[in-house]
Amino acid sequence: MELRYKETDPVRLSEDRENIIVLDQTKLPEEVVYLHINTLEQMYDAIKSLAVRGAPCIGVFAGYCMAVLASQHKSLNAEDFEKRMKEDGAYLDSSRPTAVNLSWAIKRQLKVMDTGVESGLAPDKIATRLYDEAVEIHSEDISMCMRIAEHGLSLLHDGDGLLTHCNAGALATTRYGTGLGPILLGRERGYEFHVYSDETRPLLQGARLTAFELVNAGVDETVVCDNMASLLMKQGKIQAVLVGCDRIAANGDTANKIGTSGVAILAKYYGVPFYVLGPYSTIDVNTPTGDGIEIEEREPDEIRTMWYERPMAPKGAKFYNPAFDVTDHSLITSIITDKGILKPPYDRAIAAMMGSR
Ligand code: MRU
Repeated sequence: MELRYKETDPVRLSEDRENIIVLDQTKLPEEVVYLHINTLEQMYDAIKSLAVRGAPCIGVFAGYCMAVLASQHKSLNAEDFEKRMKEDGAYLDSSRPTAVNLSWAIKRQLKVMDTGVESGLAPDKIATRLYDEAVEIHSEDISMCMRIAEHGLSLLHDGDGLLTHCNAGALATTRYGTGLGPILLGRERGYEFHVYSDETRPLLQGARLTAFELVNAGVDETVVCDNMASLLMKQGKIQAVLVGCDRIAANGDTANKIGTSGVAILAKYYGVPFYVLGPYSTIDVNTPTGDGIEIEEREPDEIRTMWYERPMAPKGAKFYNPAFDVTDHSLITSIITDKGILKPPYDRAIAAMMGSR
């Protein structure tokens, strides 16, 4: 199955603007299936089930969801329209708690609505503005990923061995991705990287999605189990770690897929640079430190049965399934954003960057 990252948007709007067309990532890599989504319940389920996943991609999707919902509610009177949009936004926002891009995009769309209401626009005109804003969020994401890829590539060298965790590529964003952006861009420019993808238990985003993207792009890629990173680093096979992020607190503490903080601790021990890559929309200046980031807990069966022909543990065994962890800012060599490369102290670097937006 082949998908080209430069032409593939995991989410987009249909020509008639009534459906959001979503590449169902739960089916990859075996099947390429597109869902046509138009109800609030389908939108919620697409995020919750990880058909749409990856922080920036969830943000782009949420922008389109709010636009489609606004169009569905445009025949309501202004007061009911506003009330309904706020309720729908709050419901959608409750689908996943950790990736800040979801609430960021919903808030951005509600702000567009509020501005329209304040200037006395009718709901159908406001719905058009939400559509324009959704398209803008999407195209911003494409250009931010490109800039992140350029900044990230400036830190890498031809021949580097690179380790990544989870999937922070085109499937998790639009086009180049964040964590995989420098790798894909480097490949286009003739760099020969050796990329190791942690399989990323329990949902296997590394094995299923990162390997799928990199193999399709012709990158030399090897899937390893999550517990192999230490050996790879000890053997000198890793010159840098590149990961995405779901929320960066004001002090640089970073939430990303469960297992990321362990990789960061190993990287520090072995003296390997640990880079976090993400757009400004993943920085949450309202959360002072990582302690304030809510960690999503998911169903036990994702560990016990989901990727096994038979249950991999006995009935009665208990499971704990946190989907993310927080990497302490002291373990991060640089945070690579669309605005440039941030260095410690991150509280100051982040405040300066976000203040300048
Ligand atoms: O649960 P997921 O698959 O949505 O988790 C995704 C990650 O943790 C990514 O690394 C993160 O969202 C950054 S994507 C550019």
